[in-house]
Amino acid sequence: MMATRAQQRTDRAEPVRSGEQGRDFEFTSADFTRIRELIHRGAGISLSDHKRDMAYSRLARRLRARSLDSFKQYLDLLEAENDPAEWEAFTNALTTNLTAFFREAHHFPILADFVTRRAQPVSVWCSAASTGEEPYSIAMTLIEALGETGARQATVLATDIDTQVLAKAEAGMYQFDQVKHLSPERLKRFFLKGTGAHAGMVKVRPQVRAMVRFEQLNLTDRDYQLRTQFDAIFCRNVMIYFDKPTQAQVLGRFEPLMKSGGLLFAGHSENFTYVTQAFKLRGQTVYELTRDVAGARAPTRTAATASSTSTSGVTI
Ligand SMILES: C[S@@+](CC[C@H](N)C(=O)[O-])C[C@H]1O[C@@H](n2cnc3c(N)ncnc32)[C@H](O)[C@@H]1O
Repeated sequence: MMATRAQQRTDRAEPVRSGEQGRDFEFTSADFTRIRELIHRGAGISLSDHKRDMAYSRLARRLRARSLDSFKQYLDLLEAENDPAEWEAFTNALTTNLTAFFREAHHFPILADFVTRRAQPVSVWCSAASTGEEPYSIAMTLIEALGETGARQATVLATDIDTQVLAKAEAGMYQFDQVKHLSPERLKRFFLKGTGAHAGMVKVRPQVRAMVRFEQLNLTDRDYQLRTQFDAIFCRNVMIYFDKPTQAQVLGRFEPLMKSGGLLFAGHSENFTYVTQAFKLRGQTVYELTRDVAGARAPTRTAATASSTSTSGVTI
């Protein structure tokens, strides 16, 4: 049977030659394997075979920026120099940052209902915040649920491994197209309309931005250096890039960071039921930390966390 062109390329570790498919740099199967190992080690991301072209096009920019001729040269340099800035650029290049305001909308009424029944002030961690649409949607939901005054004490920690998306998130500026599906009430309450040079743009209002703190955090780090507990953790559409052992490690690190009865929000295609016993499914892609696990593993409670009351068994 005739092998397809793609199969031939994979099977024989054939290099993609300069000029082939309009490519400027030599890119072999060995290079792709090395990239996969490095990004898995650094960020937990498992790149599947069909991400080969994506890896080429995104990293080719790094080769141009460094005036290099081949992927081998770039990867050698990346490992030899061990330059944090190049590792950051490498990681930023390989993340996928698709997101939207009020994405997977069914989660937000659940969050709104949940926070009204929690001890105040509530804290939410958005652990793969990308360009900010998700943490701002969370902050907007807290304002709607708790009122402007109630929400003033609430906090949203927004983290991501990718420093480039975090910079965009912090700016809080978006194209109007990205918010046009929101209700007129939300648009008016939470956004400022750009004029002049910023026509066609919107900016998240300062009172929403003030609730959100952005920080870089790698979910595969051993210690997140977080010394607080959260009422809710959003970890949506990032675990799909991790293999099962990595998912289990991340979920294990979430456990002591959740207040009793805390909720974990997952992405639409993510299922943690077979990964951990600690989180029980309570609704569509919403998990609750089981109380015994929270009690057994919680770190020394700080004054901030000691005031929280258990609302285990919430209705979703
Ligand atoms: C597809 S976006 C999802 C954004 C948002 N959570 C949503 O559901 O709309 C995935 C995000 O996970 C981030 N990410 C990937 N690996 C990560 C890691 N090891 N630690 C933290 N964030 C990571 C990426 O940078 C990206 O912004």
